[in-house]
Amino acid sequence: MTDRELMQYAVEARKKSYSPYSNFRVGAALLSKNGKVYTGCNIENAAYTPTNCAERTAIFKAVSEGEREFTAIAIVGGKGEEPADFCAPCGVCRQVLAEFCNGDFRLVLGTPENIQTFTFAEILPYSFGKSDLH
Ligand code: THU
Repeated sequence: MTDRELMQYAVEARKKSYSPYSNFRVGAALLSKNGKVYTGCNIENAAYTPTNCAERTAIFKAVSEGEREFTAIAIVGGKGEEPADFCAPCGVCRQVLAEFCNGDFRLVLGTPENIQTFTFAEILPYSFGKSDLH
């Protein structure tokens, strides 16, 4: 699976975004260690706070299907139809990813025309995680 292919899954997932309040549409595609892709979109709510980000939709789908090991996530976001903007995961999603992803987990961000990659260690240094609780 290339970064470009994973991003294409995120582009397709973004088409399912339910975002009538912000009109900010996000799609995510999470790659498991065994090569399966789990997609997600943001799902907004009239009460606002129950809104779920695309990344968390994807990771909750995957974990609920028995997956716990992941290698990469692609994220595309922006207002309107075209995924025009660079969209980095929010702090809550970073913390949820931290539960299941190592420092070398990769993030595939940007747009299909301008892909930028990061490691999880780069976007969430000094994270709080399960090792802190023993
Ligand atoms: N959103 C995501 O789905 N992922 C992100 O990384 C950033 C924000 C969603 C939440 C909300 O539906 C909309 O984008 C505007 O914040």
